[in-house]
Amino acid sequence: MQVMNPGGSGTRTAAKTESNKSTNAMSMKNNEIVKISGLVKRFPIGGGHFTALNGIDLSFRTGEFAGLVGPSGSGKTTMLNIIGSLDGPSEGTAVVLGQSVGELSHKKAARLRKESLGFIFQTYNLLPVYTVFENVEFPLLLLDMTAAERKQAVLDALEWVGLTDKIKSRPAQLSGGECQRVAIARAMVKKPQLVLADEPTANLDAANSHNILQTMEILNKELKTTFIFATHDDKVIKYLRRKISLEDGKVVKDEQK
Ligand SMILES: Nc1ncnc2c1ncn2[C@@H]1O[C@H](COP(=O)(O)OP(=O)(O)O)[C@@H](O)[C@H]1O
Ligand SMILES: [Mg+2]
Repeated sequence: MQVMNPGGSGTRTAAKTESNKSTNAMSMKNNEIVKISGLVKRFPIGGGHFTALNGIDLSFRTGEFAGLVGPSGSGKTTMLNIIGSLDGPSEGTAVVLGQSVGELSHKKAARLRKESLGFIFQTYNLLPVYTVFENVEFPLLLLDMTAAERKQAVLDALEWVGLTDKIKSRPAQLSGGECQRVAIARAMVKKPQLVLADEPTANLDAANSHNILQTMEILNKELKTTFIFATHDDKVIKYLRRKISLEDGKVVKDEQK
């Protein structure tokens, strides 16, 4: 599988992305795309609470290919959910593209997600009754684009992941690796500035794991998309340029490779 022309003809959404970039740039220092300070996350359990993240200070710069790595229960998903503005901090701040996620209204958080963030999950989360084309088009329906613009963007994204020939298939007709490539196309179709991938290889064999990591690595380089992974898979870790190790809700190591 090859990723062809990822910076290519999808220029229609680029203008929108550019204007987001310049607005956000005013509040972002040194290309800092994410800045987490004194982050604590507690979940209520029983009569008390469980501390899933316990005082995290961490920042990410534009263009990183980084991973939160650690055993099950160490807080990786909790952290990605906060960076993705799906959840908020109990204490401290998480500033994503210049916006403090805990302080955003539902509407503003939804806008941040639909315009600037892409999500990839271990279970793909494709809509089973929709075709590949419709699954990839889905996030674009929330944006102000014409049908022709959407079609071109979907075709571009399917070309990046090498699935042009499966455009009319439905998820049940695809292999796990193909499903995850559809999910990557869906995450990338609007050219988001930041993609969050939670255990993306958990259901894939070695060959498919390498394949999707190579695709994401190329998209990171060609489209300058920032990737943050949560993973405990050595096959993913091998590709990371920065490995942030979590244990019991704390960063215990932060290594550039
Ligand atoms: N909604 C929740 N309510 C209570 N505990 C939670 C909730 N979400 C996560 N946790 C707990 O927080 C810890 C970290 O979870 P998680 O971030 O999912 O870890 P990881 O992704 O590294 O496996 C776990 O012990 C988990 O049980
Ligand atoms: Mg997890």
